[in-house]
Amino acid sequence: MRISVLDSPEEAAEHAAALVADALAGGGHLSLAGGGTPRRTYELLAARDDIDWGVVDLWFGDERCVPPDDPESNYRMVAETLLSAAGAARVHRIRGEDDPDEAAMDYAAEIAGVRLDLALLGLGEDAHTASLFPGSPALAERDRLALPVTAVKPPPRRITLTLPVFEAARSVVVLAVGEGKAAAVAAVNAGRDPQHPASLLPDGRTELVIDRAAAASLA
Ligand code: 6PG
Repeated sequence: MRISVLDSPEEAAEHAAALVADALAGGGHLSLAGGGTPRRTYELLAARDDIDWGVVDLWFGDERCVPPDDPESNYRMVAETLLSAAGAARVHRIRGEDDPDEAAMDYAAEIAGVRLDLALLGLGEDAHTASLFPGSPALAERDRLALPVTAVKPPPRRITLTLPVFEAARSVVVLAVGEGKAAAVAAVNAGRDPQHPASLLPDGRTELVIDRAAAASLA
């Protein structure tokens, strides 16, 4: 995997935003990461005037099984940081408030036939990505494009896109900052291992965007 090491979390966020803007030149399908790390990237994307959101489809890599106005909702985080500027985009939200099985089936049907131009993903300290956790049966899924899962990271009930969706993406960017992610970055860089789910992302089309602290364990 390509690894880009930036001097600070802010520069990592800027680099990730630039990669997203490049991938969306002329429009396209972008899946968004959840958690806390991408907030700054979304704020930077919202401030750019070179993205025509009217020809962009926004998807979610995963969602927590909570209503869209819940503080734990990935949709809410995106709405607070990006959607004010990206209002023209077609937003494909995962209905976290619905029955997880139904919401996952609905989302799989909605994304069927779509090839992501860029999947923006985060990285957990255990090297999970989206809601694909170490040892999860979801990692072996080859047919269904979205699944309900139970995670070790709170909140436990989640819906995630599956590996085939990310494997088919034209490009994948994994954004991780801080020393807390250093061991996970080193594990992902060490090679493909289902115990480190982010290592299963497509080799030649994935870029790890990290800061110096997250690079601390790289040889
Ligand atoms: C989620 C995410 C998850 C996240 C990582 C990193 O909904 O929790 O999609 O995969 O990206 O856990 O989270 P932080 O950025 O908060 O460290």
